[in-house]
Amino acid sequence: MNIDATTKLCGLIGNPVKHSCSPLIHNTISQMIGNNMAYVTFCVSEEGVGKAVEGARALGILGMNVTVPHKSAVIPYLKEIDPLAQKIGAVNTLVSVEGGYKGYNTDILGLKRALLRNSITLKDQEVIILGAGGASRAINVLCAQEGAKAVYLLNRTLDKAKAIAESVNQAYERDVIHPMMLSEYEKLSGSNYICIQTSSVGLAPNVNEVIIDDGKFYEKLAVGVDIIYNPATTAFMKKCQAVGKPAMNGLSMLLYQGVEAYELWNQCKVSDEITDKVYEILKLHLQVK
Ligand code: ATR
Repeated sequence: MNIDATTKLCGLIGNPVKHSCSPLIHNTISQMIGNNMAYVTFCVSEEGVGKAVEGARALGILGMNVTVPHKSAVIPYLKEIDPLAQKIGAVNTLVSVEGGYKGYNTDILGLKRALLRNSITLKDQEVIILGAGGASRAINVLCAQEGAKAVYLLNRTLDKAKAIAESVNQAYERDVIHPMMLSEYEKLSGSNYICIQTSSVGLAPNVNEVIIDDGKFYEKLAVGVDIIYNPATTAFMKKCQAVGKPAMNGLSMLLYQGVEAYELWNQCKVSDEITDKVYEILKLHLQVK
């Protein structure tokens, strides 16, 4: 692809942005489908978020991704916000609309699509969520939105789990999220839970760390989903696999948040064939990094 006078521009604002895989995802898709679009990163300070959005608008930038630490701070500068992103309280994708940008949360749309691609649906299911940080909050909203039967939100600090449960239950007017201490996992009496690991435990370089060590816990699961993708097989996934349970990492979630954003910006559908090819390129890139 040659950059010329008609090239559309998209980009990422955050701090830091140097480690981001998003340029690889978007520029590879553009190359593969022959779309004259370029994607670059912008390191933006906290004070600069509003000006960055305004500047992007003035320059006619097609769309933006937003990463840490600006995912909530960017909201006041949007013209519109998607209802799901509003409930989550975080936006990672800005799409150009009349008079400004509309904010979406494709992190969570990406997780939904990655789960579906792995034949995991949340409707009527019992879910265990480990950890109660920002990613967990978004995943709790997704579970409520998708009609999960019950979500057991386990965290080391009960108050953080309670805060998420309270706000999500209130937003969906249903007692769906049940906050629990991490140490209370033995009280879970089911045997078919979808377990989503949302904490940073096990992230490289601490690759041998796992949030719950007891092998009996993993016997209760139908499937384990780790949002970490580095290492490719986390200690949590190994624990699942040791008792014969399938487990997936967060790489397809990372890819699909990009694909969802790409589709919103370009009003197109990225085929499974292209997505699979980009997945392999991304996997290779992360191995050699
Ligand atoms: P995010 O990036 O999603 O916002 P975060 O704020 O770093 O993530 O949150 C990480 C989650 O992992 C938190 O729920 C944290 O537990 P606390 O709420 O008790 O702090 C959890 N976590 C991190 N390290 C942990 C550990 N060693 N054992 C148990 N939980 C841990």
